[in-house]
Amino acid sequence: LRVGILISGGGSNMAALIAAAAPEVFPAEIAVVISNRPDAGGLAKAEAAGIATEVVDHKAHADRASFDAALDAALAAHGVDFVCLAGFMRLLTEGFVNRWRDRMINIHPALLPLFKGLHTHQRAIEAGVRFHGATVHFVRFGMDEGPIIVQGAVPVLAADTADSLAARVLGVEHQIYPLALRLVAEGRTRIVDETVVVDGTGE
Ligand code: GRF
Repeated sequence: LRVGILISGGGSNMAALIAAAAPEVFPAEIAVVISNRPDAGGLAKAEAAGIATEVVDHKAHADRASFDAALDAALAAHGVDFVCLAGFMRLLTEGFVNRWRDRMINIHPALLPLFKGLHTHQRAIEAGVRFHGATVHFVRFGMDEGPIIVQGAVPVLAADTADSLAARVLGVEHQIYPLALRLVAEGRTRIVDETVVVDGTGE
């Protein structure tokens, strides 16, 4: 499986995927990292790891369809057949999402379907939930929608701030994203009635 990782920022999830995929035995290889922002810190991390990088600057495109077409061209140029969104902060067009149906996954810093959208850690604290976490899911059109592959939960502590909770969740993100990619790359996930069935679950 040749994977393209799309980022917008620091790329810590991208770095976790690159590290996990480094051993030959991992069933996928990271072919390219693409950022919509030229100044994304993750680009330097990818280059340091010897991974090809591309910038597709959304500001250089008149509309979403043009941006998504440029994304597709960059992905095709690197022979990508699977996409991982990792801290990618753009909404993709329905056409793009449909072209990559069941071949594109995302990580969201909440236990979906709770807390779709932004500022999830502050919202979790304000809601008084006792557990929070992260979700890796197949991307469907509609923000943070799609069949769930893996989730990781963390406790919310009384003294937590959005930052302390975010840090705890990020640690779980870096574990569940490589696991989810491995399960998909090993062909152990099936989507039945928009629900992911994982074969051979012994995890
Ligand atoms: C993380 O909370 C991730 O879940 C969200 O963006 C944040 C930063 O991710 N998508 P990264 O460090 O850029 O991977």
